[in-house]
Amino acid sequence: MPHFIDLGVNVDHVATLRQARRGQEPDPITAASLAEQGGADGITFHLREDRRHISDRDVELFVQTVQVRTNFELACAADVLAICCRVQPDWALLVPESREEVTTEGGLDVAGDSGRIADAILMLKDSGIATSLFLDPEPNQIEAAAKLKVDAVELHTGPYALARGTAVVHELGRLADTGKMIRDAGMRLHAGHGLNYVNVRPVAAIDGMAELNIGHSIVSRSVMVGMREAVAEMRRLLDSVTIAGR
Ligand code: PXP
Repeated sequence: MPHFIDLGVNVDHVATLRQARRGQEPDPITAASLAEQGGADGITFHLREDRRHISDRDVELFVQTVQVRTNFELACAADVLAICCRVQPDWALLVPESREEVTTEGGLDVAGDSGRIADAILMLKDSGIATSLFLDPEPNQIEAAAKLKVDAVELHTGPYALARGTAVVHELGRLADTGKMIRDAGMRLHAGHGLNYVNVRPVAAIDGMAELNIGHSIVSRSVMVGMREAVAEMRRLLDSVTIAGR
């Protein structure tokens, strides 16, 4: 059944857990396969400059094994752009990046860009990869994106997710207004960041919303819904051991 809204699942946080031990588990590739089985329409992964979670090996394997769309999130930096063009994901999602940030903190400044973003988009388009920009819901940013003829804009929902009280309505209004601008300019409307099981529905209900990218809340919930079974499995394993004399 075609989905009303596509769900992109960001598996970076599975890799964060793996990197806590710098070992092999949990493997984000296996997580991506399970996310597909759960109904994901796309798998999103961010190859950061500092490689703090997703690795070069991971991006190769995502593109080779994921059967739904692959969405490669990256900064406008020469080394990751070259990797992206080589591995050929379905989509490239350009984001700003700074080493100090805990997660992506704001949208790209495409309106004030000196040409770096335009050059990156040209390079990706030449490689046959669909392009998307992560932007704050600001009209001048959407106008600048439309001029670059990107395929999609992903609106930054972080401020909406953090808003409380009447500010929630205000933030939703900004998302809806800029969402309309995006669609009127012929681009696909995506959104993401900070969306969870409590706040997602009003964003999904925005006119023309085509795709939501969600990571932290889904990975967090998978720990909670999986904990009982994981402990029960270990319990069964221990109970199956028979020691002479006990
Ligand atoms: N979209 C972008 C551009 C992101 O950087 C992130 C976080 O990696 C997400 C969506 C998903 O955000 P969250 O993990 O808060 O659901």
